[in-house]
Amino acid sequence: MMKLSVFITFEGVDGSGKTSQISLLREYLKGRGIPFCLTREPGGTAIGERIRAILLDPEVGDVHMLTEMLLYAASRAELVHSVIMPALKQGKVVLSERYVDSSLAYQACAGGLSEDYVLCVNRIATSGLLPDLTILLDLDPETATCERLAGKKCDRIEERDIEYHRSVRSGYLKMAAAYPDRFRVIDASKGILEVHDEIISVVSDFLKGRVEP
Ligand code: TYD
Repeated sequence: MMKLSVFITFEGVDGSGKTSQISLLREYLKGRGIPFCLTREPGGTAIGERIRAILLDPEVGDVHMLTEMLLYAASRAELVHSVIMPALKQGKVVLSERYVDSSLAYQACAGGLSEDYVLCVNRIATSGLLPDLTILLDLDPETATCERLAGKKCDRIEERDIEYHRSVRSGYLKMAAAYPDRFRVIDASKGILEVHDEIISVVSDFLKGRVEP
């Protein structure tokens, strides 16, 4: 079996098209016989899906930002240790919809928590596992909101005002500028297939030369 052990994360504001793009990329990897594992956050494990239900339920209302950040980290700890690390050990490409950068954008930059706290908690939760590549689907939250609201009920985080979502986006762009080796920023306002082609080009470049015999 091809051995790659590459960890790729997808980030972006709500409604930036991560889910659709990951499923297109999955078909591409499948077509090339590249072994992969798909995960999503929060969730991806039995306990993670329960934590997700609590975090996204609008009826839960306001919770302290620290509580929120710790719940995301708890879901992540389970996912990293029971799914992501074992898949990487098997040589798979792991594609995760969201990871630690989501907590930095949503709970630190937009939510007002100290970045150091979020980093420290997440270093513990993930045992220090960082993505090899992060694809940021960049979209202004106004455009994303229109798409998101088209026929869909907002969850507890999506319900937050536009200023919150603007700060999420600027948090992501700051991180991408600070870590250019890891981040690739893709303009998500383009058509779905155009965005897909850009993702394929980024991912195939990245995987080139990484195949171990
Ligand atoms: P997501 O699955 O992208 O939402 P949807 O099912 O609507 O596509 O993510 C759930 C929400 O959780 C999203 O609004 C972003 C938020 N979130 C955080 O605030 N912090 C985090 O660490 C993560 C992983 C997600």
